[in-house]
Amino acid sequence: MTLKMKIIAGLVAILVIIQFFGIDKENPSYQAENDFIAITNPPEEIAKIIKTSCYDCHSYHTKYPWYTNVAPLSWWIGDHIEEGREHFNLSEWGNYSEKKALHKLEEFYEEVEEGEMPLSSYTIIHGEASLSEEQVEMLVAWVKSLPGVEQHKD
Ligand code: HEC
Repeated sequence: MTLKMKIIAGLVAILVIIQFFGIDKENPSYQAENDFIAITNPPEEIAKIIKTSCYDCHSYHTKYPWYTNVAPLSWWIGDHIEEGREHFNLSEWGNYSEKKALHKLEEFYEEVEEGEMPLSSYTIIHGEASLSEEQVEMLVAWVKSLPGVEQHKD
């Protein structure tokens, strides 16, 4: 074997081996009454946007398409889900203190207004999750209309 062939064979072997290290795709159990949508009861259209554009990373309702089986891509996606849930977990909303919830709601409309969320690496693949200007306006206006949000600053 030439050196080039050896290197290629080595890389292929690594790719094969890392496939044995998958990510944990078990959605944790959750209590339905702690769900963000159950608690805040938004209009149908808003609920749909949040479910489509945010729930994969910010809830325990994550859907894992086939490419989440492919390492190392799967590791990168798994990190986003873990971090997303850690910062803003819509399935644990009922367990947030009022102070924390108000702070997160402020982050919510800021991130959406600035186009930071949903992550662009996600909307490239999930076109249906990307938000039109109209949807951004609707979502931001709705979050701001929730009790205490506009008064809250920190
Ligand atoms: C592909 C995964 C993914 C999607 C989809 C996504 N997020 Fe995020 N989100 C993250 C990650 C990862 C972080 C933490 C790191 C960061 O701030 O960039 C985060 C952070 C946040 C934060 C900041 C929380 C804090 O305390 O700083 C808010 C708020 C947020 N996201 C809201 C949303 C909303 C609203 C949507 C839907 C419109 C959404 N995200 C969609 C992955 C995602």
